[in-house]
Amino acid sequence: MLKQSKSIILNAAQRDRMRAAGRANAALIDFLRPQIVAGVTTEEIDRAVYAWTIERGYRPATLGYQGYTKSCCTSVNEVICHGIPGPYELREGDIVNVDVTTIVDGWHGDQSETFLIGDVDDEKIAVTQCAFDCLYLAIDAITPGCAVSLIGETIVAEAHRRGFSVVREYVGHGLGRAFHQDPSIPHFPNRQSRVDRLLPGMTFTIEPMINAGSRFTRLDQRDGWTVRTKDNKPSAQFEHSILMTEQGPEILTPTADGPRPGHVFGRPNSG
Ligand code: MF3
Ligand code: CO
Ligand code: CO
Repeated sequence: MLKQSKSIILNAAQRDRMRAAGRANAALIDFLRPQIVAGVTTEEIDRAVYAWTIERGYRPATLGYQGYTKSCCTSVNEVICHGIPGPYELREGDIVNVDVTTIVDGWHGDQSETFLIGDVDDEKIAVTQCAFDCLYLAIDAITPGCAVSLIGETIVAEAHRRGFSVVREYVGHGLGRAFHQDPSIPHFPNRQSRVDRLLPGMTFTIEPMINAGSRFTRLDQRDGWTVRTKDNKPSAQFEHSILMTEQGPEILTPTADGPRPGHVFGRPNSG
């Protein structure tokens, strides 16, 4: 059974609030995109997120969230998620996921992209491509009233077909006035997701984390946040906030300049 089963179904006015939050969050990602290049430190990205957000009267949801002290997460190479911005300087050959969550008038937008820094090796390109395609395949698969497990089934099938694995410890989530709420959106099918339904008026994230090697994770014991692949192979992630409407899924966090469905990731200046 879903907790909060009434409050997670949004009416027309509430859906508009989520659209506004999602649009703002996507505009922030578009603002960051040209700044995510070799030579920039992850804390410089974090400062840009903070400044952009505060200037507009919004709040970064991660700031102060369960003791987290930054305005975004920056997850490089073998970091799966929750990488903490710091002095690390991005360099050619890295992949970095930048995950931002903006609170606009009390409502949340949450999304992330993985960025290629210059010339990246084939394994990193392939795992980034897989995470991106898995996100859009899952969005394409879902329909009003469908089981949440359709998301996990779609993602696991595609990732395994490409020889990659799907992280299980960290999942998508309901999103609204709360950062994380029901339903849980695992990127693999489980007992609960076979029961839960995506009803019109529900808002949630899909955010598959795809590992080039095994699915297993390890949490950094020193900082308590950074999640890495157990085998140190690269991992990639893309995230959108989604509204299920009576007609089907609506992406709440569409960027102007980001990769579109069907985008092919590759090396700079190659065909
Ligand atoms: N933005 C992440 C998500 O997609 C959550 C980050 S929580 C933090 O759910 F505390 F690590 F920032
Ligand atoms: Co999320
Ligand atoms: Co996020």
